[in-house]
Amino acid sequence: MYKVSIIGLGYVGLSLSTFLASKGIHVWGYDKARWKLESLKKGKLYISEEDLETEFNRAVSNGLFHISEKLEESITHSNITFICVDTPTKEDWRQDYSSIISAAKSIGKILGKLDRYHLIVVKSTLLPESSRKIIIPAIEQESGLLVGRDFGYIYNPEFLREGKALYDLRSPNRIVIGEYDNKSGDIIYAFYKEIYDEKTPIFRMTIENAELLKYVSNVFLSLKISFINLIARVCEKTPNTDINIISEALKTDPRIGPYLQAGIGFGGQCLPKDLKAFISFVEEIGIKSALLREIYFINEEQAIWPINILKQVYHDLKDKVICILGLTFKPNTNDIRNSQSIKIISRLLDEGAVVKIYDPEGLENFLREYYYLPVIPCNSIEKCLEDTDAVIIATDWDEFKLLEPKTFKKLMKTPLIIDGRRIYDVNKFKDDVIYFGVGYHSRPFKTLLEI
Ligand code: UGA
Repeated sequence: MYKVSIIGLGYVGLSLSTFLASKGIHVWGYDKARWKLESLKKGKLYISEEDLETEFNRAVSNGLFHISEKLEESITHSNITFICVDTPTKEDWRQDYSSIISAAKSIGKILGKLDRYHLIVVKSTLLPESSRKIIIPAIEQESGLLVGRDFGYIYNPEFLREGKALYDLRSPNRIVIGEYDNKSGDIIYAFYKEIYDEKTPIFRMTIENAELLKYVSNVFLSLKISFINLIARVCEKTPNTDINIISEALKTDPRIGPYLQAGIGFGGQCLPKDLKAFISFVEEIGIKSALLREIYFINEEQAIWPINILKQVYHDLKDKVICILGLTFKPNTNDIRNSQSIKIISRLLDEGAVVKIYDPEGLENFLREYYYLPVIPCNSIEKCLEDTDAVIIATDWDEFKLLEPKTFKKLMKTPLIIDGRRIYDVNKFKDDVIYFGVGYHSRPFKTLLEI
């Protein structure tokens, strides 16, 4: 019978623990942040994920999800430990492994006292060779044990999306097992085979392949976004073209596929950091990274796109009142980390603009994190739009999609709409308001200002 401990209860760890418990597996969840454990004990989650709070509370009341206050308790109760701690990217674009090294050492100390085989499964994003050169030695040194003989090791990257965590865990498009040896691989393979049906592809490979694959997946997704955003620029300068039309038709080629929505670029806790760390890795091993660097630069420039439009219309942004709709890096989450909105807001403030902000779920996090920024928070879309000189749609929340041109016209001083996520139907908007959308060839400014 599987008994599992999960170390690190962030997006991945908490979602994974809840999912496994929902499958009837006993889970001991531990996080070194006491406030997270306190919050969980009250049944309150600190992340916003579809269905997660309900499922979590169900798992606790069914006696399957155990909130561990001590790492030792969680390890000793289990036979498999998943490590899900964060591996952020430092200022110099290298990976910061301090959390995972410290977790590996603490786990190692406990394993050294256990007199039985235990399987370690790492989910945190790690650059190729990190498991073998850094993580496994840290566990071996602290435990005095030998990998392959006394404990097993698997690198098992996670591909879930924030906001869709449980959905992606229930129906993953693939399971990737990077195995130290056959024994470790067989255990985790059997574990996943019990959870998932025949249709879920399971790939067994070396640890290094799995480590590389995680980066390659995220970097390829970033590449697709920057590529479509580059083509969006072409559309902006080419009459009678529209990136949404191009992208819709492009996606139908199965060799190209989805994930081609043009906009103000990608943010979040994963794509930007993984791209930077991978660039630094690639350069370190002596491979040219121009293609990868361009993905990054295009993304940085996309955040400036709304500012450029504003400047073309108003020239000077001093004292112009700008409404920002959307703070989170994507809809259906309260996560504002590395959101393109933040770059836009900072830039507007630097230009002397007055910035009003609204987000259905991210406002609290934004105000906590950026308390020092002189913005005007609003508790409704309408309040945020009132008496403004322009609005920037920065996140594609459903509630923004429902807005009609007449609402902008009624509330704003000048109904200048900068649609950074291409959520509006151009045909509906182009005559009643001043509309600019990423990848849409707008009319000449002279005509616009006559509206
Ligand atoms: C991403 C990957 O999609 C997951 O597969 C991966 O597991 C995860 O990173 C991770 O490494 O943990 P996530 O960060 O949740 O997931 O977000 P995405 O849904 O991929 O969106 C990332 C950003 O790209 C958002 O800012 C979104 O607005 C933007 N995006 C996405 C576009 O601009 N266009 C698109 O077509 C898709």
